[in-house]
Amino acid sequence: MKVAVVGATGLVGSKMLQVLAERNFPVTELFPVASERSIGKEVAFKGKNYKVISYQDAIAAKPNVAIFSAGGSTSLELAPKFAEAGITVIDNSSAWRMDPSKKLVVPELNADALTADDKIIANPNCSTIQMVVALNPLHKRYGIKRIVVSTYQSVTGTGKKAVDQLFNERKGAENGPMAYKYAIDLNVIPQIDVFLDNGYTKEEMKMVNETRKIMRDDNILVTATTVRIPVVGGHSESVNVEFADDFSIDEVKQLLSEAPGVVVQDDPAEQIYPMPLWAHEKDEVFVGRIRRDETQPNTLNLWIVSDNLRKGAATNAVQIAEYLAGKGLL
Ligand SMILES: NC(=O)c1ccc[n+]([C@@H]2O[C@H](COP(=O)([O-])OP(=O)(O)OC[C@H]3O[C@@H](n4cnc5c(N)ncnc54)[C@H](OP(=O)(O)O)[C@@H]3O)[C@@H](O)[C@H]2O)c1
Repeated sequence: MKVAVVGATGLVGSKMLQVLAERNFPVTELFPVASERSIGKEVAFKGKNYKVISYQDAIAAKPNVAIFSAGGSTSLELAPKFAEAGITVIDNSSAWRMDPSKKLVVPELNADALTADDKIIANPNCSTIQMVVALNPLHKRYGIKRIVVSTYQSVTGTGKKAVDQLFNERKGAENGPMAYKYAIDLNVIPQIDVFLDNGYTKEEMKMVNETRKIMRDDNILVTATTVRIPVVGGHSESVNVEFADDFSIDEVKQLLSEAPGVVVQDDPAEQIYPMPLWAHEKDEVFVGRIRRDETQPNTLNLWIVSDNLRKGAATNAVQIAEYLAGKGLL
């Protein structure tokens, strides 16, 4: 497989290279692409250095697949150019996710919908991916009516500049790069992405709309509050979910422990529950604090943690590529 990684110098792009190598994706040629400022710089893949090239050179090399993590506007401009050249694009930005002509894919849930005609495939938002991977097996069994989610999101979700801001603040360095309007160290910022007219942020509405699209059910009600915290290992989510049918906690744990990509970490007696500290550099979605909401019927509380750069971005994209390659669709 000839593979282009667009945004190869970024946080997600570097993780993409790492995950492609770790999972032994059959890369025969690699074409790293970034902005014009980075052309000629080198990125490492499987112990070898590769020079960053322009997108034009990458298209001319006719890769089988191009995995994009270079921001929404770059994707809007460049993904169609790759697709027109017959190259399958797997895109990590929000540019194509809600386009009705594009599939929004979490392989555990809906990769079966992909065909050779899908030339631009969208990778969902990181906070949505981890939530739907955990909730889908429960939805199939009990039918989700409503989800109330609050997130505790890692600075790695914002990109390199945000990680630099956090560590600069921690060192006490002054005049460092500011990815956020406010300090993030020793703080919590209840805003992720821009505010919309309805008072919610774009990140919050991504969780509402993407969940319905991926789970193929517009009746699922979702309300979200998304929050940035000074953490690097992954995103955490407090999820309250109301089902149509009643459940038993034992069966919920059983369903989750059998679900692909999910690990149950739930032993209050031993103080075992998911944390970014443990989820960091892992591909799975970790679920714990599984308990009945005692204030209303058929309602469950969960705590869901995953490494947003892996399952929330790079791993999910590489799994899509693996599915396409396995089905001969690339
Ligand atoms: N971080 C996450 O958890 C996460 C999760 C899911 C999706 N995403 C999405 O992935 C994308 C990248 O995120 P990130 O965290 O990796 O950001 P980042 O660390 O800031 O990296 C951005 C990457 O995009 C490249 N780029 C910028 N403009 C470009 C252009 N005109 N042409 C080609 N490449 C260009 C940059 O190249 P230079 O180095 O040359 O500037 C860099 O490689 C965003 O769309 C983000 O929403 C992120």
